Amino acid sequence: MTNTEPLNVAIVGLGWWGRIIADHIRASTRMRLVRATDVDERARGFATDRGLAFGTSFDEVLADPMVRGVVICTPHSQHTAQIVAAANAGKHVFCEKPLSLTSSDAARALAAVEAAGVTLAVGHEKRFEPPVMELLRLCRTGALGVPLQVEANFSQDKFLAMPSDNWRLSAKEAPAGPMTATGIHLLDLSVAIFGEARSVHASVQQLDSPLTNGDTLAVLVSFERGGHALLSAILATPYTGRFAVYGSRGWAEVRDKSHPESPQGWTLTTCMRGELPKAVDMPPAPAVLHNLEAFADAARGGAAYPVPREQMVANVCALEAAFRSAETGRVEPVTRVDSLIAR
Ligand SMILES: NC(=O)c1ccc[n+]([C@@H]2O[C@H](COP(=O)([O-])OP(=O)(O)OC[C@H]3O[C@@H](n4cnc5c(N)ncnc54)[C@H](O)[C@@H]3O)[C@@H](O)[C@H]2O)c1
Repeated sequence: MTNTEPLNVAIVGLGWWGRIIADHIRASTRMRLVRATDVDERARGFATDRGLAFGTSFDEVLADPMVRGVVICTPHSQHTAQIVAAANAGKHVFCEKPLSLTSSDAARALAAVEAAGVTLAVGHEKRFEPPVMELLRLCRTGALGVPLQVEANFSQDKFLAMPSDNWRLSAKEAPAGPMTATGIHLLDLSVAIFGEARSVHASVQQLDSPLTNGDTLAVLVSFERGGHALLSAILATPYTGRFAVYGSRGWAEVRDKSHPESPQGWTLTTCMRGELPKAVDMPPAPAVLHNLEAFADAARGGAAYPVPREQMVANVCALEAAFRSAETGRVEPVTRVDSLIAR
């Protein structure tokens, strides 16, 4: 039975995205932000301004019986250990993307969550954008026929303003340049359509920016059940977001009007065989909040979180192959989800 009390959560990491998430949670009736933690004391002011308890110790958060869930917004290489620690402490976990950087870490995170019987959610809010939900529905119901190919682009130039020692520009935290920043969202939606990937060919170049980790990424993903995804992610061009799927009976394309940080709406264009394309403008919707609330509802015993855990792991398996391919220049095989987790 659903618990009608809001889910008490703590936020872990009060940087750029953690602050955006904190304000979303504070606007929700389904979650209550009870405390925040960041290793950087400078985050205290943000918490204090919002009347939030603040500390620099993650262990203190895990020991707090008031906290039923954690929202992890920390650098990528820390996600797995923090998910495992939170699950071991009996806390539900919402983790920002990527869930993990390797398939074995994703399996470790999943095993901890399953052993603890807690909810796991990932910060792939694109799945909660109304036009993307409609596109996925058209795929699921067969309205587009058999999905044949995805073509997608998620690019932005926010990182150009970062100091060169920022963790998000490092090869350790962000292998394959733009892959963990934006490419991962496109990969996640491609997995939602096609399932597990079979192989990945990725190429990263540094063409015209100070981003030594690479500013331009092209990825070709081939899937086990057939189909390709052609993904483009650039960190040295102004914002653009586009996700298109081509099927044997029709196609659908979502174009974003702005970054998910401040949604301005979308244009959804669909075209069925024998008809002219139809474009519909869709108003802004708080997809980040809807993702967080889907997590809260699942944690409170309501509807299950809508992203299957195998897809969370499949996304990391394909991500890991993209990292390898960007290094080797070869087409790299993808670790099978079955070899990692029992289903
Ligand atoms: N879903 C999205 O659209 C989206 C958008 C932006 C960022 N993100 C994700 O959010 C996460 C954070 O990215 P960001 O851009 O906010 O980075 P950031 O550097 O601005 O913030 C990270 C924060 O974590 C803190 N931190 C580091 N180690 C910590 C620890 N052990 N415990 C507590 N706090 C710790 C840092 O001091 C910093 O304040 C990343 O996973 C990133 O990929 C997601």
